[in-house]
Amino acid sequence: MSKSLQAIRGMNDILPEQTPLWRYFESTVARLLDNYGYKQIRMPIVEFTELFKRSIGEVTDIVEKEMYTFEDRNGDSLTLRPEGTAACVRAVLEHGITGGGQTQKLWYIGPMFRHERPQKGRYRQFHQIGCEVFNLDGPDIDAELIVLTWRLWGQLGIRDAVKLELNSLGTSESRGRYREALVEYLSAHLDKLDEDSQRRLKTNPLRVLDTKNADTQAVLVDAPKMADYLDDESRVHFEGLKARLDAAGIPYVINPKLVRGLDYYSKTVFEWVTDKLGAQGTVCAGGRYDGLVEQMGGKPTPGVGFAMGIERLILLLETLEQVPEEIFRQVDVYLCAFGEAAELAALALSEKVRDQLPNLRLQINAGAGSFKSQFKKADKSGALYALILGDDELAQQVIGFKPLRGQGEQQNIAFDALAAHLATCIVQG
Ligand code: HAM
Repeated sequence: MSKSLQAIRGMNDILPEQTPLWRYFESTVARLLDNYGYKQIRMPIVEFTELFKRSIGEVTDIVEKEMYTFEDRNGDSLTLRPEGTAACVRAVLEHGITGGGQTQKLWYIGPMFRHERPQKGRYRQFHQIGCEVFNLDGPDIDAELIVLTWRLWGQLGIRDAVKLELNSLGTSESRGRYREALVEYLSAHLDKLDEDSQRRLKTNPLRVLDTKNADTQAVLVDAPKMADYLDDESRVHFEGLKARLDAAGIPYVINPKLVRGLDYYSKTVFEWVTDKLGAQGTVCAGGRYDGLVEQMGGKPTPGVGFAMGIERLILLLETLEQVPEEIFRQVDVYLCAFGEAAELAALALSEKVRDQLPNLRLQINAGAGSFKSQFKKADKSGALYALILGDDELAQQVIGFKPLRGQGEQQNIAFDALAAHLATCIVQG
């Protein structure tokens, strides 16, 4: 027997009963980003593998073991994007839209792909909404990105469940000096480090800081601190950011061990974390990447951004029961018609009503059926009102109007008066 076809592990269908919540989330974020003056950009899902190797870094988990990489029919090595920043940088460079110091405040949404071990909140295809800002080098824009996410958490009702962690990685020079000091210290304690950290010490020593291994963590207690190696410029930048967050009343904690898993960061890094989702608690993360554009072949161009994981935020909304009930009601009026003459009249009438009320969510019964079965479908649709058209009503050029969820008698409304009547009953979006 042939094996039934299944989706790939870690890649999920989003079923019709879930899409209202996704659309609510996505439209809330999109509206907020519009209001802050961000413009949407859409990049391809597949890019040359080289792009991710050069930007994210050869010795990161993503590039070493998580990318979906394949050869296409031309023999080019392509990769399903594991994140959005690299492609966004490639796009702005390719189209010259950051040239001459032009500011760009951009956002994107879409699927990302990482071959990680799937578990709650961690998938192989997941979705991000991200922002990237180019050609602004001050802490004001770092603060704006954080402030707008804080506002979003407020709008979604999840503010109390998330915590902001902040750190500064300094410039690449100061990070280089810190790296040397860290390597020297850790090398002196090599035998106490776990195997993975011993390997990272050689390839990407800062990543040792976010080890989960308790013995290595104990060694790190007395390790040199990044803050002591920060250059003046980064220190002033970081102070500027903290002052703005204080002024905006946004609580944060400094986490000196926050280094992020991608290599392109400099100065500010931050993560919004929650303890409500188990192990996969980072719902939004980002930072500054002032060297990346130049590294990718462009002119020196400061950049800063973040990306939020949609699946994790949706899980959080569900866990905290912050899902507004009304998003699931997608039909205002359900029209039941009995007999062919009534069906024809119903179609013509409903098109006229749609002309007059373009936002009305009107569903016509399809597939005929008895009074009872059509009525059942009307009720199941979640509609507030049913419209009823049979031979008797047709003869009088009226339609039955019946409230389905509450008080109110059934009444007949003249065809000509239907749109005006519906307009008084239904608040249209
Ligand atoms: P990231 O930390 O790799 O950063 O991912 C950002 C967010 O995407 C995470 O905080 C998490 O919410 C979500 N995420 C990541 N991997 C998964 C997964 N396997 N399953 C579900 N959700 C996941 C970046 O991607 C950077 N490009 C962010 C950035 C933009 N930095 C500057 N600009």
